[in-house]
Amino acid sequence: MNSDYQILSRIIRNRRSVFPNQFVPGQIPEELVDGLIAQATWAPTHKKTEPWRLVRIRGEKLRDLSEFLADFYKKNTPEEKFSEIKWKKAGERPLQSAYVLALCIERSPAELIPAWEETAALACAVQNLWLGCAALGIGAYWSTPDAIRSLGKLFDPSGKEECLGLFYMGWAPQEVPDSSRKSPQEISRYW
Ligand SMILES: Cc1cc2nc3c(=O)[nH]c(=O)nc-3n(C[C@H](O)[C@H](O)[C@H](O)COP(=O)(O)O)c2cc1C
Repeated sequence: MNSDYQILSRIIRNRRSVFPNQFVPGQIPEELVDGLIAQATWAPTHKKTEPWRLVRIRGEKLRDLSEFLADFYKKNTPEEKFSEIKWKKAGERPLQSAYVLALCIERSPAELIPAWEETAALACAVQNLWLGCAALGIGAYWSTPDAIRSLGKLFDPSGKEECLGLFYMGWAPQEVPDSSRKSPQEISRYW
């Protein structure tokens, strides 16, 4: 087995969702984020539409995102279901992170390329991003709260983009959380 395959395999298997409350404090240099984004764009994309639009959120803007998420919870939770604890929690992840990338997409017209293919391309790009983070020791997690339906408009008032998630980033703890997957025999079959 060649060494590229072994290295790639180790990175793929060690990539894990690392949640912001596990992050170790420390800034992520802008050049690292530039490199990660550049690698993300090497994902496959049908007709080379490159539909990804990543919004960089750092420093003081993390506080603005936190407030937006907390406000969204408050405005969209019926009074009888509202909980002070959940309200506080709704905005805490950006404040625990060093950097957040909003995963936005600008889809090509559906007659040119089906919407799902553009979504699939974005997901491939996020996997590249995530593997890059894993190799650098950056913990990361793709979050899809209800609030993302309002975030597209916040980040792109023109309405051309949709937000498909928030990618929280921060330095990972030493220990990679354990995980497991089904075996190839369970999820594949011969035709
Ligand atoms: C499209 C997408 C959306 C996700 N949204 C959430 C989310 O909103 N909340 C969450 O806890 N995890 C979310 N995850 C992360 C998954 O829960 C996680 O990948 C899964 O549990 C496997 O764990 P691993 O990433 O450590 O292998 C999302 C993953 C994907 C691919």
